[in-house]
Amino acid sequence: MSCHVRRSALAGKCKNKIMQSTQVHVEIEKELSAANGLSVNDGTPQRRSPVLVIVIAAVLGFVGGGLYFVNHPTYNAARKSFHQLYYNTRGTTWSSTYWLGVPAEKTPQDMWVYQEILHETRPDVLIEAGTADGGSAYYFATMFDLMGRGRVITIDIADSPKRPRHNRITYVRGSSTAPETVAKVKSLIAPGESVMVSLDSDHSKAHVAEELKIYSDMVASGCYLVVEDTNVNGHPVFPEFGPGPMEALQDFLSVDHRYEIDHSREKFGLTFFPDGWLRRVR
Ligand SMILES: C[S@@+](CC[C@H](N)C(=O)[O-])C[C@H]1O[C@@H](n2cnc3c(N)ncnc32)[C@H](O)[C@@H]1O
Repeated sequence: MSCHVRRSALAGKCKNKIMQSTQVHVEIEKELSAANGLSVNDGTPQRRSPVLVIVIAAVLGFVGGGLYFVNHPTYNAARKSFHQLYYNTRGTTWSSTYWLGVPAEKTPQDMWVYQEILHETRPDVLIEAGTADGGSAYYFATMFDLMGRGRVITIDIADSPKRPRHNRITYVRGSSTAPETVAKVKSLIAPGESVMVSLDSDHSKAHVAEELKIYSDMVASGCYLVVEDTNVNGHPVFPEFGPGPMEALQDFLSVDHRYEIDHSREKFGLTFFPDGWLRRVR
């Protein structure tokens, strides 16, 4: 046999062996895969196990749903995040809010809601506990100017040189719960005048509870008693504050049924007074 013929015969034998071994390999793979519930692609179309398809679909759905949720937070989660962002960046937000140049420590949304309430309920007097620089008192007085009626009595233990003069504002110096301060405030209100109240002084639970006891009697039926800064102590900001306006308010409402929370006043999505817009109904 010539070298050439022997080489061809050998090559033929090898090819046969390789094909046999590939066939055996595929068969082994098939058996192993069948044992593991998998399919082997040997060129012929394969059917996947329905259980496997369901598992893959469930995993993809779970991952896809999770990604959607992370990128599209719920309305309440977005509200809470924005509230915390707004509160915690006070230097450019609520500590940097002015009415006609005077600092007013409120959100524009809450100020707008006050304006709507003043217009709707038309109180003769608005008592504000906690004046600070007087921006909010000035804002209320300006609204009363536009309405052609109403005045503001605002109370604070401290003075501020920034306070504006306005013929509709009366400043009262003293603690909002001190008997002499309360007597002074009452002396400034004529019988039959309708009163609205805004509590924004010392935000400790004990102080707000005392204010609620005193001033809730003065509010006219249909008018509002606004308990400000119910958002502290984790509602949803300043969690380390301790019991504050929200806790005082909850105790008050559990025993005093003359007031209802008006949640419609929280319509803008951001209010520093969650549950704090109280309307006297009895
Ligand atoms: C949050 S600031 C008031 C902000 C103001 N209402 C505004 O919207 O711009 C609280 C004020 O309450 C005053 N305050 C603290 N304790 C008080 C008390 N027992 N009686 C009255 N005012 C008090 C503080 O001096 C401070 O000026």
